[in-house]
Amino acid sequence: MERFGAEANTDGASFKVIMQKSGKTFEIAPGETINDKLNEHGIDVPVSCQSGVCGTCLTPVLDGVPDHRDFVQTDLEKASNKRMAVCCSHRNLRH
Ligand code: FES
Repeated sequence: MERFGAEANTDGASFKVIMQKSGKTFEIAPGETINDKLNEHGIDVPVSCQSGVCGTCLTPVLDGVPDHRDFVQTDLEKASNKRMAVCCSHRNLRH
């Protein structure tokens, strides 16, 4: 299999991410990724492709329904909302 690079789709409205352990809340602006925001605040998330194809950044979802924009999880995994790729996914504003 060969994959080609692509920019993460960061379209959409702003949303909040709450970190469970620290209790910190971050506002993710349009054009930004969760990973961008966390890095800005010194929180290091393991990443590789930063475009949703490798799965390195998959992070547990404790609440909310993500708009999964990765290409690594199956439809079933996405529907379970157990993990999200923080390099590219956003909040699903329909929920
Ligand atoms: S870093 Fe590859 S899917 Fe997020």
